[in-house]
Amino acid sequence: MSKYEGLSPSSSTQVDLEEILPIKVASAHPQIDEDGTVWNIGTNFDAKKGYSYVILKFDKSNPEWSGTMTLENGKVLAEIPARHKHAPSYFHSFGVTRDFIVFIEQPLFVQDENRNGCGGESGSLHNSLKWRKTEMVYFYLMLKSTGEILPVVYSSEPFFFFHVINAFQPDEKYVFLDIVAYKDADIISDLKFSHIERTDHVPTATPIRVKLPLHASMSNCKIVVRKELLVPETTLEFPRINYKYMGRPNKYFYALGNEYLHPNRILKVDTTCGDITSWKDPGHFVSEPVFVARPNSTNEDDGVLLFTLLSASALCTVQLVILDASDFAEVARISFRASGTVPEGFHGIFVQDSDEHHRY
Ligand SMILES: [Fe+2]
Repeated sequence: MSKYEGLSPSSSTQVDLEEILPIKVASAHPQIDEDGTVWNIGTNFDAKKGYSYVILKFDKSNPEWSGTMTLENGKVLAEIPARHKHAPSYFHSFGVTRDFIVFIEQPLFVQDENRNGCGGESGSLHNSLKWRKTEMVYFYLMLKSTGEILPVVYSSEPFFFFHVINAFQPDEKYVFLDIVAYKDADIISDLKFSHIERTDHVPTATPIRVKLPLHASMSNCKIVVRKELLVPETTLEFPRINYKYMGRPNKYFYALGNEYLHPNRILKVDTTCGDITSWKDPGHFVSEPVFVARPNSTNEDDGVLLFTLLSASALCTVQLVILDASDFAEVARISFRASGTVPEGFHGIFVQDSDEHHRY
């Protein structure tokens, strides 16, 4: 890995990541608590023990903290052994609540004969991924305060996911986990060029909720849980929330609707009643809606959504659209002309000058 001091390319030095933290790969979506504590989960390999999932904490209140947010300031808080010693689960995100980190081990495994966590020294990770349709999803809870992995293991029927919408404790009895879920992992192979050159159809995902009961969480037992639809049948991806509600009960989330490959609809989902508000501009594709709260706001949806708009016909034009998140009224639209074709994006982020690190 290259490490840069500032923005100068000449300042880069080569760093062996594993000499700093025992991880080979990490989740694409670190999560950040209100107090600035950063959480992430990585995969580690030990020749004797095999693969494990490592929960990392970057905590500025640690007396050993030095300087700014760097990898050196990360601490391993817990380790969860992989169910298959030589085949770790693929994961893209995880859940954080007030008291817990929620790790989800889905039945898509990296058949890693090179033991490098990446599926091989060469070639695509995709070539090493194996969906095991007869295996369950496992859910693990780690206590944030101590790093203790609770002895209970929850399981559900198989599903595949990239993104956790939110996780929270509605009361002292449950952890709720809201996820955008696919019925299997076909989406990964169906996003290959060889597939999408032939068809625009790729599998769709639906928002689900899994409720983890806490009554037996300190027991060495297994509990089977059901996944239920969070809202009536609707397909969506790239969920975002008002990030002040990360780990707390949220009423709303925002997402891209309908088409994964060429998304053309922005959705606002009310998780309490299933109501969905929709916005589209015919002939345009949209990007992930990024929620930015109004300063000092108290209502969850008091803020704006930021996303880009690409014209299906004018490929060198891109627009930034700002919607009022409460009623989807258009607040502003800024057009840019690019010198070349502007491709569709994936995730987005809003950055303020004062940010030490970005809370999405
Ligand atoms: Fe993602």
